[in-house]
Amino acid sequence: MTKKLGLPIEYKKLPQYFDAHNIGEDTEAKNAVLEKLLKKHKVASVLDLTCGTGSQVFFLTKRGYQVVGSDFSPALLKIARDKAKKEKLKIQFIDGDMRSIRVGSFDAAITMFNAVGHLSKSGFAKAIRNIHKNLRVGGIYVFDIFNLDAMSDKVFRDFSMHLQRVVGDTQIHNVQCSTIDRKNGLLTSYDNYTLQKNAERPIRINNKFSLQIYAAKELREILAQNGFKILDQFDIDGSKFLEKKSTSILTVAQKI
Ligand SMILES: C[S@@+](CC[C@H](N)C(=O)[O-])C[C@H]1O[C@@H](n2cnc3c(N)ncnc32)[C@H](O)[C@@H]1O
Repeated sequence: MTKKLGLPIEYKKLPQYFDAHNIGEDTEAKNAVLEKLLKKHKVASVLDLTCGTGSQVFFLTKRGYQVVGSDFSPALLKIARDKAKKEKLKIQFIDGDMRSIRVGSFDAAITMFNAVGHLSKSGFAKAIRNIHKNLRVGGIYVFDIFNLDAMSDKVFRDFSMHLQRVVGDTQIHNVQCSTIDRKNGLLTSYDNYTLQKNAERPIRINNKFSLQIYAAKELREILAQNGFKILDQFDIDGSKFLEKKSTSILTVAQKI
């Protein structure tokens, strides 16, 4: 259950810091890899079921795709809608859960940036069956998730994150450390936020959440059990997937 795994604090309580936390130097390159895959499969319409503040939605809309964004965080959707208004783009953003929302029959569905990790394994299977219902026959589902097989101690030494940004009048520091339960595939992150508005006394906020992560083989099995044929698995930058080395798995599956 999403409740049991917890969620990053930026999804609801601190949505104004979501972009500072989630959008980085490599975001544009990752979105370009996604677009290359959509182009290869002649996709015109896309449903982004975990759109957040709209990183992929805006990227793809500006490149001529018909995109609908949905997410279960009203706070992040508000930021996405405000951005669309500011940029004078007509984009539909819908409040909904990827496990149950019905929007239409799309050429492609996407859930990018480890979004399915917020679901339990049974929740993920439910989401896949629902994604199936939102695709036309032959439509594709593209998503990424951390690769359990690559989560060595060495990877963890580089995994901790120290973010320092200014958003409006607030200095944000976030130190994030993570642990891995290899048996159950649970990657748990501990966030220590310090927020300081101008010269005021800093506020400290701690948060913990887990992501359910998978090995590539397990993903192939879950997709095959729920009406999909696996077309490809890549590393997140679109390069060849290496079972023990690629830290993420970018999967392309087709509705059969
Ligand atoms: C890491 S963010 C990625 C957002 C966006 N794709 C990006 O790359 O910036 C994961 C997103 O998944 C959404 N999410 C998590 N569980 C969800 C669910 N069950 N249904 C819909 N959205 C969900 C969160 O609200 C969040 O916006």
